[in-house]
Amino acid sequence: MDAIEALKKRRSVRDYADRPIAKKVLEEIIDCARFAPTACNVQPWEFVVVTEREALEKIARLCNYGKFIAEAGACVLVLCEDTKYYLEDGAAATENILLAAAHFGIGSCWVAGDKKPYCKDILKLAGAPAKYKLVSVLALGYPKSAGEFRLADKRPLKELLHWEKF
Ligand SMILES: Cc1cc2nc3c(=O)[nH]c(=O)nc-3n(C[C@H](O)[C@H](O)[C@H](O)COP(=O)(O)O)c2cc1C
Repeated sequence: MDAIEALKKRRSVRDYADRPIAKKVLEEIIDCARFAPTACNVQPWEFVVVTEREALEKIARLCNYGKFIAEAGACVLVLCEDTKYYLEDGAAATENILLAAAHFGIGSCWVAGDKKPYCKDILKLAGAPAKYKLVSVLALGYPKSAGEFRLADKRPLKELLHWEKF
């Protein structure tokens, strides 16, 4: 899948087939994350990949809108050091992960993240040192049905594109 196709076809998938994701594929997905841009190239991130079912279930219980993580093939925790632009940097890496997953035919869903009261609990579960913030929690899994890669309602280009001035 080329880049344009991946970013236009990616849609949040919350229903996963009972099929593990190969470690090599997960490694390749995280490898794509580290190529995201960061302010001053500080690369403040760390990525925790969780695949053990019990741990996935624990994360799912903590995320009020992420119960489907319990059935995911993997969950990636995007952590960043508390730098000035940690949120932008971590969000850029997050999007790379979602797009790389789409390339491999793996569905994904971005689950917040930074502003949630459960952040501390997930960071503790991950064994992260105190200086890290939790930018995003990403559920990954092969979609249960091919239909999950649907065309979602998106605002039309002509409504939001402004040439030269707003
Ligand atoms: C910062 C952020 C937080 C999100 N948190 C959740 C969440 O907690 N649970 C969830 O099911 N989806 C979550 N989403 C996914 C959005 O609901 C989804 O991206 C949006 O509805 C657009 O659909 P699409 O991803 O298929 O294009 C989140 C997305 C972002 C960017």
